[in-house]
Amino acid sequence: MIDRKLLIEKAFEAQENCYTPYSNFNVGAALLCENGDIYTGCNIENAAFTPTNCAERTAFFKAVSEGQKNFTAIAVVGNKAGVKQGEGDYCAPCAVCRQVMAEFCDLKTFKVIIAKSTEDYLEYTLEELLPLAFTGKDM
Ligand code: THU
Repeated sequence: MIDRKLLIEKAFEAQENCYTPYSNFNVGAALLCENGDIYTGCNIENAAFTPTNCAERTAFFKAVSEGQKNFTAIAVVGNKAGVKQGEGDYCAPCAVCRQVMAEFCDLKTFKVIIAKSTEDYLEYTLEELLPLAFTGKDM
């Protein structure tokens, strides 16, 4: 069972820790593991730009580095600094983050929840966001 409201709340909490002096675009993510644990992430920018890490990958790398390998869903929230909850737009994961998800998650069952608020969100399977994914099975 996915507690979508809780997962979205956790994503908003994580968003508060983002480090975004260059874009002022603040993203938070909360990743639900099959065992019920939740790992959060925020985007962390860098003056050299390319070392920037997205919120979703922060959450995944935290989880995998703690021994987690089985995931159910991720909630993502993102908006420019100063935008109130519920008034922003949906923030869909970038292509690099989708590829990282595909490394660890089942394309047909893993859920990506992109939220404006706990009441207003869209939900996709990873396969819908990354059709014809290239994964380890293709090698
Ligand atoms: N960003 C994320 O954290 N996740 C995404 O899926 C899209 C982009 C971040 C990266 C950068 O810090 C800022 O949003 C603007 O691109």
